[in-house]
Amino acid sequence: MSTELDPTTQSKKQVGEAAAARVQSGSIVGLGTGSTTAFAIQALGDRLKRGDLKDIKGVSTSFQAIVLAKEYGIPLTTLDEVDRIDLAIDGADEVDPQKNLIKGGGAAHTQEKIVDAFADQFIVVVDGGKLVDKLGTTFLLPVEVIPMAMSPVVKAIAALGGKPQLRMGVKKAGPVITDQGNFVIDVKFDAGIDNPAELEKTLNNIPGVLENGLFVGVASLVLVGEVVDGKPSVR
Ligand code: 5RP
Repeated sequence: MSTELDPTTQSKKQVGEAAAARVQSGSIVGLGTGSTTAFAIQALGDRLKRGDLKDIKGVSTSFQAIVLAKEYGIPLTTLDEVDRIDLAIDGADEVDPQKNLIKGGGAAHTQEKIVDAFADQFIVVVDGGKLVDKLGTTFLLPVEVIPMAMSPVVKAIAALGGKPQLRMGVKKAGPVITDQGNFVIDVKFDAGIDNPAELEKTLNNIPGVLENGLFVGVASLVLVGEVVDGKPSVR
């Protein structure tokens, strides 16, 4: 069986490794969630094993990140124990030209926003397919909702012009449950999102909404992985 990676996965691996290469010894590192960040976490573990990186500590953004950090030998700490995060590495579902993001495809955007926003530097790692001119055009906007508030939140989002749908799990056996024990509503805006900064605040102001997946003004740097002429590259 061939173990060759498809071009998108090659791009994710390449960009994850490029972000991990920027981490310096002694750093406190925010560990994001998703398949691209998973390659970064693996690469950090490889650097620790090789000995060209020492004394780093990870702050996780999800249960998935905790599991991967343990698998690859990255010591973990928490926000209660550190007074800074030097650098966070995390993926995204859409990136606009102003480096604003939609996140939450893995239902982890609440903890991701806490960690990514707290970091001195937040490096976004994406494959080229995530770049958009306008947010909300290729990906629905995830909103984490406290379960008992589902109905009023759905009505409030519809009144804003959004089309909300409850995110269901594998085989639609039940709703996806976040690490905080909540639901995720994915919202379609037919014409995309005109003013991400305003919408981010408006949605978070609805009682029962914990956090939405708009990350406005949080990213420091966007690394994009691409396969050009069959060769993976990062820009
Ligand atoms: C999880 C996220 C992920 O970072 C985002 O969905 C990108 O994932 P991937 O790297 O697998 O494409 O926001 O909540």
